[in-house]
Amino acid sequence: MSSKQPLDFLWFIPTPGDGSYLGSNEQNRPADHRYFREIATAADRLGYSGVLIPTSIACEEPFLVAAALAPFTEKLKFLVAVRPGTASPAYYARIAATLDRISNGRLLLNIVVGGSAQELAGDGIFLAHDERYDHADEFFQVFNKLLETGEANLDGKYIKAIDAKLGYPPVQSPRPPLYFGGSSDAGIDFSAGLADKYLTWGEPPAQVAEKVAKVRKAAADKGKDVSFGIRLHFIVRETDEEAWEAADSLISKLSDETIAQAQENFTKNSDSVGQSRMAALHGGRRDKLEVSPNLWAGIGLVRSGAGTALVGSPKTVAARLKEYQDIGIDTVIASGYPHLEEAYRVSELLFPELGITGAVPSARPSFNQPQVFGGGGHGGNLRVVAGS
Ligand SMILES: Cc1cc2nc3c(=O)[nH]c(=O)nc-3n(C[C@H](O)[C@H](O)[C@H](O)COP(=O)(O)O)c2cc1C
Repeated sequence: MSSKQPLDFLWFIPTPGDGSYLGSNEQNRPADHRYFREIATAADRLGYSGVLIPTSIACEEPFLVAAALAPFTEKLKFLVAVRPGTASPAYYARIAATLDRISNGRLLLNIVVGGSAQELAGDGIFLAHDERYDHADEFFQVFNKLLETGEANLDGKYIKAIDAKLGYPPVQSPRPPLYFGGSSDAGIDFSAGLADKYLTWGEPPAQVAEKVAKVRKAAADKGKDVSFGIRLHFIVRETDEEAWEAADSLISKLSDETIAQAQENFTKNSDSVGQSRMAALHGGRRDKLEVSPNLWAGIGLVRSGAGTALVGSPKTVAARLKEYQDIGIDTVIASGYPHLEEAYRVSELLFPELGITGAVPSARPSFNQPQVFGGGGHGGNLRVVAGS
């Protein structure tokens, strides 16, 4: 697999809230749309190709969030979570087509069936783990057909759609791309032949390699090509030492009781194979958090799902990313706490190492004279570098 193409780098809109210290209310930032707008406009300018917008009872509604952000951004794509069963496939097809039209073709869809029977019951979904994928399979037969052709019919076990119609097609043809993240055999089987991009949470490279091989084979058996993405947090600083200090600081106000409570909650309320693989990395212990070189599982002590971060200097982190790229990963969905400041850090420190163009000023910075930032003041805040 070639590593020559720069990684496609997306950022994250923290609709469950944001902050500087996990497990603490100090310097926290509750969900706030003006803040999301700041993050989205920053990500758009800083060279990220898109943002992931999650779904759960702890999040704002992702299609509405994307629709609110689209007019304030230019190139940014929106990877929006679709949870089959929370609405009919025909209704989801209408909102997906409308959002693709509002954003002029910037919609990506993330299929998430959900990993908590308790949370799904609140949404009126009472299916066992594997059956959720059988239901999702019928859901996407109707959803895709509507987006691709404007019409669909299905008399399925779970989904019935009689002469379903879609009035307005999406901008993207045949439809917005489908992403999928689920680690169970049922999930991988479901996604093969359907998903355009398979996503994994940030497990160590050897585990990701195993999954990639399994997913690639499942897709090939159904005659489909699939590409791969990874969901990771980033703690990048100028030196490795500073980055590890920042990682320690992030959990410096996190109590053992909060960790125990969170871990118990995940065990009790989750039947997600992906989640149990992530929890097994650290076992709820704060003394064994570097689960593979520079891969730190501290976030997973209290956050479900994406619980690992790459920690280090730009060169260190770029080398670790190259390992994933060599396995076949071409897309990174990144985040960091707090999301506005860390979007800048990742772009300014890491993107140059990865060959990602990053923030390109829309106006010329000078009349072709080399410049340095000089802090401002009388006579102009940009000075010509002597001798360069
Ligand atoms: C990158 C990524 C993003 C995800 N986003 C969400 C989300 O927004 N909401 C959600 O309920 N589950 C989300 N999931 C969880 C999975 O979609 C899936 O529902 C869960 O892991 C159960 O599947 P499994 O048992 O097959 O692993 C995400 C997973 C991945 C890998």
